[in-house]
Amino acid sequence: MTQPLTVTEDTITDVAAARWATAHDPRTAELMSALVRHLHEFARETKLTEAEWMAAIRWLTDTGQISDDKREEFILASDVLGLSMLVVQQNHRFDPSATPATVLGPFHIDGSPERGWGEDMSDGLPGEPLWVHGTVRALDGTPVPGAVLDVWQSDSDGNYEAQLPVDEARLRAKYTAGDDGGYCLRTIAPLGYAIPMDGPVGALISQTDISHYRPAHVHFLLAVPGYEPLITHLFREGAEYLDSDVVFGVKRELVVGFERRDPGPTPDGGSSDVPWLECRYDFVLQPG
Ligand code: BEZ
Ligand code: FE
Repeated sequence: MTQPLTVTEDTITDVAAARWATAHDPRTAELMSALVRHLHEFARETKLTEAEWMAAIRWLTDTGQISDDKREEFILASDVLGLSMLVVQQNHRFDPSATPATVLGPFHIDGSPERGWGEDMSDGLPGEPLWVHGTVRALDGTPVPGAVLDVWQSDSDGNYEAQLPVDEARLRAKYTAGDDGGYCLRTIAPLGYAIPMDGPVGALISQTDISHYRPAHVHFLLAVPGYEPLITHLFREGAEYLDSDVVFGVKRELVVGFERRDPGPTPDGGSSDVPWLECRYDFVLQPG
């Protein structure tokens, strides 16, 4: 499109969208020209003022400046806006019997240490002992052997490793399911926690009635050749905030009982001297 000499309020959107549609990669062209149209529409609909746009730019700058390899403020922003969950859902339209996907969140760390059957990823941190175990299955119920389960969670103060000045892996590990699809891990019961409120996302949320809490959960990432990668959580049944998760991540199918057990035999074949919790869950994978 040849640009008219004078660009007006009425023509600028078409001119800018056409300019961005010249991106060499067709998908980039599609994404950028649609972004221009939607941003312009937002400015028109809200009659955006210059002061408001400058405040938004300040907020984006602060969001970038607080971010580093451990602090993922843009992921947090996307999560609380519901955008992460929308993108997850439209990209993982699994069979209804498959385990649903949910948000990755800002606290996953690559390269977690491998742990054996039933090994404790909490390394003695305070909390109620919890065993999570079950079978990784295909849609028809057949066990899927050898799945790697990458697991992470917060501690009893609601902090993830990425939020603490620690050098060692903390409350995260990889477990490999057996030939029969069985997996078993030991940890501590997760608690509900507040998302980080000391940055620009928190500053915005503080101006609303939004609850800034997430219900108690453990994160899982399952990667198995031949199946869709599954990023999900298991939420504790009865936990606070299940109906108000600040990042919209809860799905009924992911809410699981953590049953109280007396001291005695545990699912790893060992035993516990103290009362403990049992979470049984079979992951069902979508073929890829
Ligand atoms: C999390 O569960 O780790 C999380 C997800 C989204 C935002 C903040 C935290
Ligand atoms: Fe979490």
